[in-house]
Amino acid sequence: MSFLAESLQRIKPSATIAVSDKARALKAAGRDVIGLGAGEPDFDTPDNIKEAAIRAIKAGKTKYTAVDGIPELKAAIARKFKRDNGLDYKPSQIIVGAGGKQVLFNALMATLNPGDEVIIPAPYWVSYPDIVLLAGATPVTITTRIEDAFKMKPEALEGAITRSTKWVIFNSPSNPTGAAYTRAEVKAITDVLMRHPHVWVLSDDIYEHLVYDDFVFTTPAQVEPALYQRTLTLNGVSKAYCMTGWRIGYAGAPEFLITAMATLQSQSTTNANAIAQWAAVEALDGPQDFIARHNAVFKERRDLAVGMLNQAQGLSCPKPEGAFYVYPSCAGAIGKTAPSGKLIRTDEDFVTSLLECEGVAVVHGSAFGLGPAFRVSYATDTALLEEACRRIQRFCGNLR
Ligand SMILES: Cc1ncc(COP(=O)(O)O)c(C=O)c1O
Repeated sequence: MSFLAESLQRIKPSATIAVSDKARALKAAGRDVIGLGAGEPDFDTPDNIKEAAIRAIKAGKTKYTAVDGIPELKAAIARKFKRDNGLDYKPSQIIVGAGGKQVLFNALMATLNPGDEVIIPAPYWVSYPDIVLLAGATPVTITTRIEDAFKMKPEALEGAITRSTKWVIFNSPSNPTGAAYTRAEVKAITDVLMRHPHVWVLSDDIYEHLVYDDFVFTTPAQVEPALYQRTLTLNGVSKAYCMTGWRIGYAGAPEFLITAMATLQSQSTTNANAIAQWAAVEALDGPQDFIARHNAVFKERRDLAVGMLNQAQGLSCPKPEGAFYVYPSCAGAIGKTAPSGKLIRTDEDFVTSLLECEGVAVVHGSAFGLGPAFRVSYATDTALLEEACRRIQRFCGNLR
């Protein structure tokens, strides 16, 4: 009998964090490692946001706040939802947490019972199924296909819904594939949900602003207003505002759900960091022009990575619309042998040998529920990314 809770045996540590840790340890040991594992922008937090935090500290805004967030931030979030998404959320329908991850955790913990099912398109962000499992409910994955650019088909969603389905988790642009749904594609999904009034949608919009080539982002409650009363719209400042370490995420949803999530949060972390909340007000209300500047760089890197990876033997890499990830298939490398003599049986073998032979850290696709593939985060210096892609090409070329 373990001293540890049974619920803990249902989950595993985040594979993406594990890869970053491994790459960091190899680097610390003096190895020349290029880490393409991290899910965070390499750009620094903009100065105006940092200065807002410094002002908050100096003004003594350093105490507990309301559990669900300071009114100023909730007002800024309400303005953001209106401005960017055409969504009306009152402050009582908004909660702020320590990152989008805590808000997601609270939403699932506050709603799931054993026997409940949550539909998750695969490949998925690693935390979705594990939080569902921790809550005692059942993740039901819908496997997407590379031929469909990793987007869930409406028929597949229709087929996966049962009487026990409570949520569908929708993530566009996606971690790990970068795939983003057009308005018509979102509508096809919301049309299915309109036929199943017991199913709620949790739309994870954290990569909203990271889209390229004039792609227009839309979110389910905006595309289908009739779905608004059973939608939780999740977002945060981590990605677009380069604020991963500040830990501010938020959501808009029906008031009763937000109240339940706040009750849960009041018994765990209380409020999100007070200073970071003031910084987030500046992020949402301040100048937004750096986002386009960053996106120009991200787009250039995406194109570089897609071009170079498609030239690597045995890889096939779709060109996604957003986020800062690409998700090449390595099916053509399976069954081959690395220069070290190791047989590549799985995508995990592929990424392990790649790290050992060439010092490039990426995350295996099976961790995201769809392999054989791997995730490349191109949120890294362009010259380093190019060098990493060259090493991946060499590694693939040397497989026998
Ligand atoms: C799809 C997705 N959702 C949510 C998050 C949560 O980000 P944070 O907790 O930093 O707001 C991440 C971070 O990697 C993510 O990739």
